[in-house]
Formats: sequence, C-alpha cells, structure tokens
Amino acid sequence: MRLTRWIWIGLCVAGASARSATGRRVLVVVPTPGAASDYSDFLDSLKARGFELAVRGAANASVALHGGDGARMYDHAVLLAPAAKRLGSLNAQSLVRFVDDGGNLLVTASSDASPMVRTLATQFGVTVEKRGSRMVDHVGASASGDAGTVVSARYAHVPAILSQKLLASNAPPVHFEGVGLRAADIPLLVPVLSAPRTAYSAPADDNAVSEAALDLVSVFQTRNNARVAVSGSTALFSDRLMRADGAGNRQFAADISQWVLQEKSVLRASSLRHSLATGERPDHYRVGSDVVFELDLAEFSNNAWHTYTADDVQLELIMLDPYVRVTLNHTQAGGADLTTYRGDVRLPDRYGTFTFRINYKRPGLSNIDVRDVVGIRPPRHDEYPRFLSAAYPYYTSALALAVGFLALSAVWLWSAEPKQSSKAASDAKPATKAKSTPEEKSAETKSEPKSKRKSKQKSS
Ligand SMILES: *[C@@H]1O[C@H](CO)[C@@H](O)[C@H](O)[C@H]1NC(C)=O
Ligand SMILES: *[C@@H]1O[C@H](CO)[C@@H](O)[C@H](O)[C@H]1NC(C)=O
Repeated sequence: MRLTRWIWIGLCVAGASARSATGRRVLVVVPTPGAASDYSDFLDSLKARGFELAVRGAANASVALHGGDGARMYDHAVLLAPAAKRLGSLNAQSLVRFVDDGGNLLVTASSDASPMVRTLATQFGVTVEKRGSRMVDHVGASASGDAGTVVSARYAHVPAILSQKLLASNAPPVHFEGVGLRAADIPLLVPVLSAPRTAYSAPADDNAVSEAALDLVSVFQTRNNARVAVSGSTALFSDRLMRADGAGNRQFAADISQWVLQEKSVLRASSLRHSLATGERPDHYRVGSDVVFELDLAEFSNNAWHTYTADDVQLELIMLDPYVRVTLNHTQAGGADLTTYRGDVRLPDRYGTFTFRINYKRPGLSNIDVRDVVGIRPPRHDEYPRFLSAAYPYYTSALALAVGFLALSAVWLWSAEPKQSSKAASDAKPATKAKSTPEEKSAETKSEPKSKRKSKQKSS
C-alpha cells in the first residue's frame, strides 16, 4: 500500500517536471518586474509546461546567468527587454558564453534595440536593421488597420521546428511589430518567419528604403546543440498580439519556445557498436572484412524519448576522405523508445587508421556527430589465400614444367641402348678379359664410339 503510494507520488513528480530534455530553470528578463504582466499568456504557458521561471527586471544588477563558481545557474534564458541599456550584469559576451556552455537563448529585438542586443544577434549571424527603423506593410495592413503591424504567414518549411498547424496552407499569420532582420547565409541559421513581399523596412529618417528581403524571426543551432532564437519583435510574444483576431502568434510562440527550450526535435545517439559479421569484435579489422555497424537514435518530444526513423542516416568510413559511405537501414529491434540503425559494410582494401563516423545534421534537429576510430590491418602471412585464380596460368606452367621434367627423366632413364651392341659388348668381355693388354683396351674403348655410330647410321 505504502509502496504504491510512493510510486504514485513519483509518477506525479515526474509528470510535473519540465518537458525539456536539458533542464527546467529559465531566466526571464523583462524591462521592469511589472512589465511581466504584458507577457502573461506566454510566461504562463511556460509555467504550465513545467518550467521554473525566474522573472527579473532588467535593472536588477544581481541578474546573472553564471554563479560564482562559473557554472550555469539557468538552463534557458528569455530576454524580453530589448531596449534596456543593461540587463543586470549580463553582456553579449556572457550570453555567448552561456550558449557555449549549452544554455538556450530566446532574444527579442525592437526598433529601439540596444547595441547589446544587436551585438548579440550578430554573434548568431543575424543583423538587426538600423536603429529606429521598423517593418511596415501598407498593402497587407488592411486586416489589422495599422501599417506598423506586419501580418506574415511566410513560414519556413521546417517540420522539426514548426508544427503542422503552421505548415498547412491555411495557417494563421503571425502579427509582428518590430524591426527586420537579415540572416547570414550559414547552415546553422534557419530563418523561420520571413516578411511578406509587400513589407519593407522603413528607416527613421524616411529616405532610404531597404529593398532586400528581410526576415522576422530566425533560429540558430550551435554545434554543441544549444539553441538560439532571434525575433525582430518583442510584441509578438505579448498578450496584446497573441489575443489579436486570427493571429497565429500563440501557436508560433509555442512552437518556437518548445524548440528553443529543447522540448522537441532533440536527438540522442547511443550505443555505437561494430563487429565482424560473425559477431566477433577484434582489436583490428583485416582489410576486406565484412563488418556490421549499429547505432541507436532516439528523439525527445512530448516529455519522453521516442523512436526516430529516417531514411537518410549515413555512415562513413573515413581516412582523410570517405572510403565507404552507406545509408543505414533502421529496425525497431532496440525497443519502443529508440531506433536501431544498422549497416553491413565491407572494409576497403586499404589498411591504416580509419574512423567510423555518423555526421547527421538536419535543419531544426540536434546535430549527431559520433565517431569511433578503428585500425585496419593487412592480412597476416598465413591469412593470404592459398591459390589465386588470376595465377592459374603460372600454376599450370609450373606444373607443365614439372611434368615435362619427369617425363624427360623417365625417358632418359628407361630408354635402353640398342640391343645388339650391348650383346656384343657382353659377349666380347669374358673372351678379351684374359688376353687383352692395356694398349688393346684403350684401342677397344676408342673404337667403340665409332662402331656405335656406325650401328646407329645403319639402323637409321
Ligand atoms: C533582483 O534579483 C534577485 C535575484 O537575482 C532577487 O532576489 C531580487 O528580488 C531582485 N530584485 C528585484 C527588485 O526584483
Ligand atoms: C539494407 O537492407 C537491404 C535489404 O535487406 C540490403 O540489401 C542492404 O544492403 C542494407 N543496407 C545496408 C547498408 O546494410
């Protein structure tokens, strides 16, 4: 009874924990503590998702992201005070360090964004339009009645970040009041919301109109899988625009914050393993061996790890350049919460130090870059094949030579001398032995070849 109660309490605690893969502590910086009520819908939705919010005024000097020991005090930071001269003790440098340490950051800008926010945005490849300029759309404004409220449904098609509701053809548009952004062309940066074609950036001095296509919200994922979102509008997250008629702001803010706070599209790789096709795992593989490679991938979403199934996960076997690149097959053998990727690879006919590497980077998904170094050795002296099919002509010629030699030897050994001459020699021997003198002997031996030759000529 008591045990079941404890299990029940444990389940409740687990259910109450944040739905983020990395942590639940969030620092929210607003211009003044009272201004937090302007964003109550957004902040309440974060609380409802299990995050612990520390809402601070920008002027509070004790606001910091790192503790005295240099460790992160928060897992995520949401900066909603773009115009503030200072954000507690934070500056662009300490915020970049926070992201380097794996912290996630949502930062918003506005027409009067401070130099600090602009510097911070450029660290992530986003240039905020000139101070005082703002996005204006006179054509699309009719719905909202104000040219300063840009209405855009130009979402980037990134299912890992935006939910199906916003990717549908009749998606509700986001109401945006703020400054345009220019995104650098770098693969880590994804502009998720672009300005409508009729919108432009109106500078404060009203003479130079920018004609470049501008973005409104961009997201950036660092190589260490920290996530950053830069929005040109702070009002986008305000109750006023979230509650506007037909606005998709609520959904958009939810999607972006879920992505930034690592509640979805978080990938995890585990149990990289490889062995010979026979199941054996030697210290070094031999060139040309058949190797089985396996890796487990899981995706975090809805507060749990799930299977992650994709047909574009590739394995490379690299020594400076990839020698082998195969697309891995996936199976569900590992269990319900992960997907096992498997590839059967024949090692190249080249020995040295190779790296098995899976480098999987897709927009919106965590980067997977796992590797293992293996040694590939040439065959040992006793591992070479006994016979090579290519060498059969040589084997045949050697064999033919041996057979020929034996045949010739046999012929030479067993071919008898002509019969009559050998008979004559044997007949003559006993007769001559008694009387022959040394002179006669030498004369006999000298004359013998002549008689042989004569007998041969006769026979021929
Ligand atoms: C300033 O921040 C500290 C914690 O960092 C907090 O305890 C304090 O209440 C804040 N002061 C104000 C005026 O909000
Ligand atoms: C994937 O499975 C197919 C069919 O079983 C097989 O032909 C192919 O070689 C496999 N790919 C890898 C990389 O193992």
